[in-house]
Amino acid sequence: MTDRTESTEVLQVSGSVLPRKQRIFLKLQERVKELTALHRASRLFQKSPGKLKATLSRLVRILPAAWQYPTITSARILYGSYSCATENFKVTPWLQSAEFATRNGKKGSIEITYLEERPMEKEGPFLQEERALINSLAHMLQSHIEQRIYQVLLRKNNMSLEKKVVERTTQLTRLNEKLLKEVKRRERVESRLKAFRKKLRKLLAETTRLEEQHRRAIAANLHDTIGQALATMKMKLLSLHGEAIFYGLEQEIDEIRKLLEITIKTTRSLTSEISSPIIYELELSASIPWLIDKFSEKHQMPVSFASTGDLSGISEQTRWTLFRGCRELLNNVVKHAKASKISVAFFRDREKLFLTVEDNGAGFSVSDWKRKVLRENSFGLFNVREQILELGGSLDIESELGKGTRIIVTLPFQETGKKE
Ligand SMILES: Nc1ncnc2c1ncn2[C@@H]1O[C@H](COP(=O)(O)OP(=O)(O)OP(=O)(O)O)[C@@H](O)[C@H]1O
Ligand SMILES: [Mg+2]
Repeated sequence: MTDRTESTEVLQVSGSVLPRKQRIFLKLQERVKELTALHRASRLFQKSPGKLKATLSRLVRILPAAWQYPTITSARILYGSYSCATENFKVTPWLQSAEFATRNGKKGSIEITYLEERPMEKEGPFLQEERALINSLAHMLQSHIEQRIYQVLLRKNNMSLEKKVVERTTQLTRLNEKLLKEVKRRERVESRLKAFRKKLRKLLAETTRLEEQHRRAIAANLHDTIGQALATMKMKLLSLHGEAIFYGLEQEIDEIRKLLEITIKTTRSLTSEISSPIIYELELSASIPWLIDKFSEKHQMPVSFASTGDLSGISEQTRWTLFRGCRELLNNVVKHAKASKISVAFFRDREKLFLTVEDNGAGFSVSDWKRKVLRENSFGLFNVREQILELGGSLDIESELGKGTRIIVTLPFQETGKKE
């Protein structure tokens, strides 16, 4: 039954009547040819680093073997200005072609022609599978060309990127060199500035020392000459008391005595104001309250004072600097702050001394002050700060317009006899 069926069941393949087995075998043969062509094309695309034209001419030679009648098959590939064809290529009425276009706008096609007429199939003499094959090949070719385009673009981009990197690196290197030079120049200027500043501090310290010396000399002179003379005059006047009564001049002599006493008192306070022995003789715990009392009395302004820690045993230079500093800060409050409250505080810990002068007055802008120091004759605060810095301390200003001022002086603690 089966034999009969097989032998009697015949089918039309390529225009001829063939038994079923042979038909299947022929079909299989066709698929193998197509697959081989696809495989060879894909290997070609993978391993073709050379020119596109060479790849195209190798591809075109693979094609005829994949079609049903290789011996009468010719092929041609067109792409842009390229054209590669098998030697036997001829345009005939039996043509199968697949077109494609790449993303750079170029068009291409794969063309297969039969040189002789053959029985009709799905698409003229061509099989349906051959249509699928030619379309796949066109698609593969399009992808391959686009890959090449991208690779070229990538290479170009890489090159321009590398160029840019080199240019930028050169620019940066030059900039870096410039910067290094500038840094060195600034370092030089800075070290010269430091040296100048050091000299300036020394000069200021020397000026202050000389001023102090002169003040002491003037005070001593005032005391030894005018003060002594006034005291002698008073003694002599007192010795004339009896005679004055005798001559009826008691009242005049008494007036002169009173005047003399006032002059003696004024001379004494002048002497003490010019150079008070208190600065040299007393510890800060006594000299600062003395200064505050005098200040309060002179300006009719209450000053609160607080101190904690032992303020004795502080070296002479530190004492003088703090005394003078405190005096300048208090004078500044009177001159500039229009304050109603002033507080002075002294505090000492194991290593440092702190002096705070605080007021509730007008306040000021620290940056304005720095500009003033350069332009105007504002010297007091600057001088205090420089002397504090010279002793290894610091001066911090906390001030806001309309909200008062707090100035904090910090000095390393130096006991008497120890080197500053
Ligand atoms: N307690 C304060 N309240 C408000 N302003 C102040 C105070 N202390 C200082 N200033 C401001 O800071 C400026 C600088 O003070 P500085 O002591 O250096 O100069 P000065 O007192 O004007 O002049 P001098 O050189 O005679 O001391 C002052 O002109 C003032 O504007
Ligand atoms: Mg001042």
